[in-house]
Amino acid sequence: MKTLTIRQPDDWHLHLRDGAVLKAVAPHSAVHFARAIIMPNLVPPVVTTTDAAAYRERILAALPEGSSFTPLMTLYLTETTQAEDVEAGFRDGLIKAVKLYPAGATTNSQSGVRNIETAYPVLERMAAIGLPLCVHGEVTDPTVDIFDREAAFIERVLEPLRRRIPELRIVMEHITTKDGVDFVRAQGQNMGATITPHHLIINRNAILAGGIRPHYYCLPVAKREAHRLALRAAAISGHGPFFLGTDSAPHLDPLKECACGCAGIFNAPNTLACLAHVFEEEGALDQLEAFTSLNGPAFYRLPPNEKRITLRRQDVPVEMERKVSVGEETLTIFDPMFPIHWKVED
Ligand code: NCD
Ligand code: ZN
Repeated sequence: MKTLTIRQPDDWHLHLRDGAVLKAVAPHSAVHFARAIIMPNLVPPVVTTTDAAAYRERILAALPEGSSFTPLMTLYLTETTQAEDVEAGFRDGLIKAVKLYPAGATTNSQSGVRNIETAYPVLERMAAIGLPLCVHGEVTDPTVDIFDREAAFIERVLEPLRRRIPELRIVMEHITTKDGVDFVRAQGQNMGATITPHHLIINRNAILAGGIRPHYYCLPVAKREAHRLALRAAAISGHGPFFLGTDSAPHLDPLKECACGCAGIFNAPNTLACLAHVFEEEGALDQLEAFTSLNGPAFYRLPPNEKRITLRRQDVPVEMERKVSVGEETLTIFDPMFPIHWKVED
């Protein structure tokens, strides 16, 4: 039996939702992760520091008693976001990042930014104070093929933004392509990227080959195999700019299993078990801690967690839960399509 002890991981990209779903999913993140960057794409979105403070209270109220899980709050960038409010939230210690959603790019992104030029005053202020920008890196131009939207975003939005404000610290969220990996590798210190467990495990065949499988559909959509391999190489490299963001994004099953299903994969309950499997398969278990627990805090200028967790490999596969209940309804947990042998010890 093999064990691996690492500093407690953090999740640098997490959707906790609100209300009953928040109550159902928050404990699953809190049991494994010390901290998480909380995505602000609620309906309505978390736009002001006041919104973020109220959402933080609702998250804390949804945690199991005695949990020390720390939600790191973000603001949803709109064309009317005020630089003063952003800076005040940052100085308070409440706001850890601002999220850029190109309008219409993904779930609940209608209030996002249409023209990046309108956001430059806020972005310049963020660069001056050292507050990171998290970007959903896909263009929304309907003439661009969905599989090319990340590469087009790099060329049309990210490269000009880097040239215009090189001091701005940017995290390219949930990268899904070799183009994303290569771009991030070529940048200096001010650029990081999160990688999800599912993009290390599935390619687009999981969604489309042999029947349509809505629980593998998320945005950015999984790409072809060569891209998955590039993401794996980046994640297992231990290289500083690449770190874990689960993008755990629960939607109730009826909203996934229908004619126009929502984008989002719910993976919080088994992320660490899946990652241990991936890193073991790559002969890179010694790099898991860098990916889950060291590179993220370094980018966000926070200390790594002192607490340790131990992962244990069992000979017999672990029986994994497949669903989480929310009242009468259910959320389906990501199925990696391999037997899971790793378990986080209590
Ligand atoms: C996310 C969601 O459901 O909020 N969906 C997803 O497919 N990842 C939004 C996002 O991160 O794009
Ligand atoms: Zn997300």
